[in-house]
Amino acid sequence: MSRITLDFSKSKGIIPPELYGHFSEQIGGVFYDGLWVGEDSKIENVRGFRKKLVDSFARLAPPVLRWPGGCFAETYDWRDGIGPRALRPRRINWWYSHDGRVESNQVGTHEFVDFCRMVGAQPYIAANMTSLSPLHIRNWIEYCEAPAGLTTLADERAANGETTPFGVHYWGIGNENWGGGGQMTPEACADEFIRFTTICKPLAPFDLKFIMCGANGHDLDWTKRLLGRWSSRRWHETDAWGMSVHYYTNAFSGSDDLTFDESGWYDELFRADFMRRIVDDHRLVMDEFDPERKLRLVVDEWGNWHKDGSGPSRGCNLFEQQSNMRDAAVAALTLNIFNNRCDVVGMANVAQLCNNLHSLYLAGGGGFVETPNYYVFDMFRGHKGGRQIRACVEAEQKEAERYGALELLSASASVKDGTLTLTMANLSLTECQRVEINTLGGGLANSGKLRILTHSEPQTCNTFEDPYAVVPVETAADLSENGMVTLPPASVAVLTVNTED
Ligand code: AHR
Repeated sequence: MSRITLDFSKSKGIIPPELYGHFSEQIGGVFYDGLWVGEDSKIENVRGFRKKLVDSFARLAPPVLRWPGGCFAETYDWRDGIGPRALRPRRINWWYSHDGRVESNQVGTHEFVDFCRMVGAQPYIAANMTSLSPLHIRNWIEYCEAPAGLTTLADERAANGETTPFGVHYWGIGNENWGGGGQMTPEACADEFIRFTTICKPLAPFDLKFIMCGANGHDLDWTKRLLGRWSSRRWHETDAWGMSVHYYTNAFSGSDDLTFDESGWYDELFRADFMRRIVDDHRLVMDEFDPERKLRLVVDEWGNWHKDGSGPSRGCNLFEQQSNMRDAAVAALTLNIFNNRCDVVGMANVAQLCNNLHSLYLAGGGGFVETPNYYVFDMFRGHKGGRQIRACVEAEQKEAERYGALELLSASASVKDGTLTLTMANLSLTECQRVEINTLGGGLANSGKLRILTHSEPQTCNTFEDPYAVVPVETAADLSENGMVTLPPASVAVLTVNTED
């Protein structure tokens, strides 16, 4: 038997809704034939965006959406994506050597912000620090945010259809500058960040939140040197809201997302669990340079990265892959890790929204499907803005020489408006877990609702032909007898129950 003790007196604070953020890069099939079908398409759309996806995503209430890259951002010129669509240039983009596609620029700043507004997400723009000048990016910010009629760039925005400022507050300055973003040293990256943000000082009234480019996974040396340089040169002009970190499980190791065996299941989970160390060790390093903890950790790309080709386009869309219970378990484990560190992680964006890595949606032509990952985000939505409370887990562990111990039960809890949301993942591939739920410093009603996502064949995916193969099932939870719930193997669950004051 496993046990979760909920301690109502111990809290890390409010869970920022932004931990449930998303990422949509102009890559492969994310936009073209994924999110964007065009206004003249026979596929039902809202101003060019696939209606089924808009409706589904809006229901999730996404807090934030990052765009246009990723690596795509390294060569992206925002001016290519404004003005009449028919006149926009076609460009060889960052990913051309991978898939031979050129960027049509049919989706640019106006379309992206329009999509964000439709679904209720805050836009987060990743600006190109690699190959454009600081002035060019500064002007992009002014184009987006200057009040109507104030400047020539605001007039240009109005001429292109939008008088009201877009409300883009999150600006990533640079992306993966240790790699595709210019192969910089951490010191050079910090210097560039300071150069770009210093000239944006006059735009401060627009409430800008700058995010600098942090490490690749657990590369603490990058973080130390970046922050060392940044803090030694920093003065009042160069405040940063956050520092990013990117982490993909299984990146490039070529695992197959459809035919994994037991070792493939656990290997992926061990790798995902490594996020705990990434966050905790980063905060330790950050504390050296930012003892007041003003800087947030922004995990602005995370997810599973399998061998591509298993999605509906059968390899046409770069990095497109299917998703099943293993991906759902990784999502649940990761989101629980973030909830339990909500005082450190200020934002997180799962990569990517559609037809790509660890996606919530797969779409093509008239086909559209919500993946098991989508359902995890749906099941966890009660945490957004809730007060995190400690969920202490006692469960069986699995050991691996390379990674240490993996607790086979993952959990996090929060309270909002008198309702407890307790999310759990049974990470055992084969064993059911009976979970006793105890409370300290507060009580729970005797009954609640339990939603469970699982499948007897955890490799099963939702497909265009069988879109509801893996969906959550809701039952009443009777907590009167020692608060017991039973979780099937390889499952994700959410318990919602009223709290007793
Ligand atoms: O998400 C795919 C790619 O992964 C992104 O473009 C890049 O930032 C990361 O390496």
